[in-house]
Amino acid sequence: MPQATKQQHDVKDLSLAPQGKKRILWADSDMPVLARIRERFAREKPLAGKRMSCCLHVTAETANLVRTLQAGGADVVLIASNPLSTQDDVAASLVKDFNIATFAIRGEDTDTYYKHIVAALEHEPNVTMDDGADLVSAMVFVALERLDDVHPQVRAWAQKMPPAERQRIINQVVGSMEETTTGVTRLRAMERDGVLKFPVISVNDATTKHFFDNRYGTGQSTIDGIIRATNTLLAGRTVVVSGYGWCGKGVALRARGLGARVIVTEVDPIRALEAAMDGFHVCPLAEAAPVGDVFITVTGNHSVIRREHFLRMKDGAMVCNSGHFDVELDLPALRAEAEADPTEVRNHVHEYKLKNGRRIFVIGEGRLVNLAAAEGHPPSVMDMSFATQALATEFCIKNAGKLKNQVYNVPNEVEHYVASEKLASMGITLDELTVTQKKYMSGWEQGT
Ligand code: ADE
Repeated sequence: MPQATKQQHDVKDLSLAPQGKKRILWADSDMPVLARIRERFAREKPLAGKRMSCCLHVTAETANLVRTLQAGGADVVLIASNPLSTQDDVAASLVKDFNIATFAIRGEDTDTYYKHIVAALEHEPNVTMDDGADLVSAMVFVALERLDDVHPQVRAWAQKMPPAERQRIINQVVGSMEETTTGVTRLRAMERDGVLKFPVISVNDATTKHFFDNRYGTGQSTIDGIIRATNTLLAGRTVVVSGYGWCGKGVALRARGLGARVIVTEVDPIRALEAAMDGFHVCPLAEAAPVGDVFITVTGNHSVIRREHFLRMKDGAMVCNSGHFDVELDLPALRAEAEADPTEVRNHVHEYKLKNGRRIFVIGEGRLVNLAAAEGHPPSVMDMSFATQALATEFCIKNAGKLKNQVYNVPNEVEHYVASEKLASMGITLDELTVTQKKYMSGWEQGT
């Protein structure tokens, strides 16, 4: 059986480990719910003997999640879920100080990204964890023998063995966890098409995840990324937020909190109405383009800001994305309208000089700006998301063989535990229902 060891890794520089360890421990001090789960996992070993491949943003917060899985007895391989989100010092410390086989290098090219996906496959996992569904989708293509549709690195790995052997590897997976909205959308499409090969738990759909992480985490860290990269003042500026899902709501809220005039663009009538009643100006992107100072996409969709929008923007407009994939800004179209290749005018900021004489600044190369230009969501909110991940993993393993190949929600008990523990860690206590109230809430006889 393939065992992960620290000899197996691909990180930028192991000498960065001391700084990474400090960051991991700093984050850990603000992740009390996860720490409690880690203590129990260390005693009870609910993940004993399971091989796990986790494809996540390699950050200090993720380090504390994989430490928890390891404490529970899992043999973990960690790979990057995004080429630009890895914290290289954290990756080094995971290998050196925590004995986690880690494959992640900030700025890795697509070939290396898929070489790391192969490392996750070679581990022959029993359980996987994804942020964006790239790992599961590679497995599904292989299971379907659609080797022409996978990256050449994955194809070469699959072709090294007979078809029955690759099916055996995929059949060993008893379940998978998914962290983000975009991943869940892809996984539901797989379920609809009948190609999902194992059960998946949608951690993203847990209230203890999206209500807090997507809204307050993305809200704060997106603005953090923009400010760290540009040092711009948002007060008095016009910020255009495309998409009013949980992430968009958080971004709009925080931009308004800093004094910006916020415009929301949407395609969904309910969300547009919600944005309007939350007090934001709502209009099509074509109308917002000439008045916006900062544009932020958080839709999860493709080509949201296109040529016709870039051409209408003011000189000096700043554009970035906080949706999962780097497809929301049509950067090839922007490049085609530019006089020359973009120049990096500050860390994480590229200037495009357009043929119409105006300049557009793209932050974080169109990738998740909160992870490319800042540190992602703060530990305190990842505490809830990753506590939910750890407990969903335990549930998945306990129920191995009993679940169907579909997307499941996180069990209510898990959500209840995470919320209660988080409140306790914040020193917040609640009222309790009285006997009369319980009776009233569970009956139907009492009315007018
Ligand atoms: N996604 C957003 N922020 C994150 C973080 N800090 N760690 C891992 N995944 C994240």
